[in-house]
Amino acid sequence: MEYTTLGNTGTTVSKLCFGTWRFGKESDGTVETDREEAYDLLDACWEHGINFIDTANVYGNPNGKSERWIGEWLADRGHHREDLVLASKVYFPFDGRGEPGPNDSGLGRKHIRAQIEGTLERLGTDYLDLYYIHRWDENTPIEETMRTLTELVREGKVHYLGASSMAAWKLTKALWTSDIEGLERFDVTQPMFNAADTDDVSDYLEVCADQDIAVCPYSPLAGGFLTGKYERADDGTVIAPDGARGSLTDLFEDRYTSDTAWEVLEAVEGVADEIDATPAQVSLRWLMEQDRFTCVPIVGARTPDQLAENVGAVDLELSDAQFARIDAARGPDDDGYR
Ligand SMILES: NC(=O)c1ccc[n+]([C@@H]2O[C@H](COP(=O)([O-])OP(=O)(O)OC[C@H]3O[C@@H](n4cnc5c(N)ncnc54)[C@H](OP(=O)(O)O)[C@@H]3O)[C@@H](O)[C@H]2O)c1
Repeated sequence: MEYTTLGNTGTTVSKLCFGTWRFGKESDGTVETDREEAYDLLDACWEHGINFIDTANVYGNPNGKSERWIGEWLADRGHHREDLVLASKVYFPFDGRGEPGPNDSGLGRKHIRAQIEGTLERLGTDYLDLYYIHRWDENTPIEETMRTLTELVREGKVHYLGASSMAAWKLTKALWTSDIEGLERFDVTQPMFNAADTDDVSDYLEVCADQDIAVCPYSPLAGGFLTGKYERADDGTVIAPDGARGSLTDLFEDRYTSDTAWEVLEAVEGVADEIDATPAQVSLRWLMEQDRFTCVPIVGARTPDQLAENVGAVDLELSDAQFARIDAARGPDDDGYR
């Protein structure tokens, strides 16, 4: 494994982060990753030298299961907490105590303070390395959110703050609020960002580049689409392999595919053939080689074999021409970003 400094923080992370969204998640009556599989995946991360683990309070059914399994794995294996960089998130309604009440969601002081305690207890740790806001809360002033998060940093419960999906102007407003109020600011972001993505995140990434914020893209393989294992039927619909995410959720096609995405996949597969790599590895490398900000993709492998393949991205190199071909398939703007 290779390691990098996480943006302008003083923390060193593996060049891939491992995401645990599917731990204990029930889709269509199937638990996507059960406890035994979760432990196998975490063991595989450990063996590959992945030290950066991403979770959220709401991962798992009921919510909290992903955090709990990570904490129990850590204790069970006797690994030292200091050898891991743990990230979690807050915002969405939390059902881990039963039906969520009116204060069991959002970014108000009451919810954040309750959730950080639950997160730390489940993970079996007294601090998080990174605490993200999972989304923007329209109902809470950003000053209250940043002030509450700043308290957590100053109390030692959280080392760094992160922000996930939101409009670029909201991210800018949060940074500006921190600066004028003398509060902690976001050092890391987590947008959905992958070669096949058709959502426009270029403004958001401009903010990250300008403000020296590390980017940890989620769904870096477009939920598995960029592995090349999906096929396109004559009527344009997606044919998913049995048991793959695309066969478990109706949202897959809308969320991860488009005409452009199929063109990107073709370009990625062409590059993969040239360098004797797989489409998944090329897609991850395309993210890791973004040169305007530190970019650490959050891979969501479901098996140790998938993880081993994805880790192969660390040893690849794309030529400028190969990089540009993938950008071109995305339909680049002047800066090479959609
Ligand atoms: N902040 C947010 O709002 C947000 C949202 C989503 C995710 N996340 C974070 O980002 C992480 C990654 O997201 P993601 O799971 O969508 O990432 P992804 O890497 O785009 O998709 C992962 C899925 O692709 C398939 N896959 C991965 N590697 C493969 C390989 N080598 N060969 C074949 N199939 C492969 C597996 O699904 P199948 O085997 O089922 O096909 C796997 O579950 C999550 O775990 C979570 O931590 C954050």
